Amino acid sequence: MSIKKIAKKLVSKKKGILAADESNATISKRFNELSINLNEENRRSWRNLLLTSQGIEEFISGVILYDETTHQNSDNNQSFINLLSSKNILSGIKVDKSLHKLAGSNEENITEGLDGLSERLIIYKDMGLSFAKWRALIVITEEFPSDYCISVNAHALARYAAICQEQGIVPIVEPEVFIEGKHSIYKSKEVNEKVFKKVFMELQEQNVDLDSIVLKPSMIIQGDKNPDRLSVEKIAEINIEFLLNNVPYEVPGIAYLSGGMSDDDSILILRKINQYAKEKATQWEITFSYGRGLQSAAMYEWRGKKENIMSAQKIFIKRCRQASMARQGL
Ligand code: 13P
Repeated sequence: MSIKKIAKKLVSKKKGILAADESNATISKRFNELSINLNEENRRSWRNLLLTSQGIEEFISGVILYDETTHQNSDNNQSFINLLSSKNILSGIKVDKSLHKLAGSNEENITEGLDGLSERLIIYKDMGLSFAKWRALIVITEEFPSDYCISVNAHALARYAAICQEQGIVPIVEPEVFIEGKHSIYKSKEVNEKVFKKVFMELQEQNVDLDSIVLKPSMIIQGDKNPDRLSVEKIAEINIEFLLNNVPYEVPGIAYLSGGMSDDDSILILRKINQYAKEKATQWEITFSYGRGLQSAAMYEWRGKKENIMSAQKIFIKRCRQASMARQGL
């Protein structure tokens, strides 16, 4: 399949992406909060629970995996990649090597992982993976983000995207503007505007085909420590206006991250955005690429216990169904 077709398939009608690519450090944080033992078998069991949930293929087009998971098998001893492929779900891989201190700045970060990326992608493609993810993180404080931080992160995102496409892998381009902070929704919009401008400039300069990427932004929303919140309608209106002004029409799809939003918000705002998108006859598919938004409630039910697997799977599928409905504006 061409990368253009893969990108389209990832954002196909009714479906979205499951982000199950938490690094060992990140999943340890989630396990710790629920007193789940931190070990490889529990990480495998958790991913097994998600990926073997009955009916997942109705709602999920692709799953972003972490390197460890690509080498693991399901309880039935089938590799997770083969299991997904048997359900017509695409497998993807987080290829960035997380945040590192940005040289020349004491406060900000850069996402690393470009060294050896081509070689890693060749191996991943051989294993059956068809798309990748790279997350740049832009944090808002009174003083930041700096133009420097936005600029180097955008450059690296575009380098990654160009390298992926050259290897026949679809890049998910994720310029996440962090929800943490006291900022207003208008500040979030202003920062996202700067970030998108730079990111699309870099993508174009580095000859990335915009019709063969999936964009994974955060929603424009007030900081999690700002009590002043607008209505769902107003938030959705700001988001759709932002997309119309800042995302080229060639991009086939926008798959939002959930970024620590409440479960309710991640559904209600996505639904409203899609309703407005229909009214405005926008050209992109607007869907989800949620990690916590799909997993948190189910993990809370599971807590590492065998006897909770079935009930946790039911909760997970319910969240997938809700996100799928929201992504259709329903
Ligand atoms: P969240 O939906 O939990 O933000 O995770 C999505 C993701 O892939 C972050 O990089």
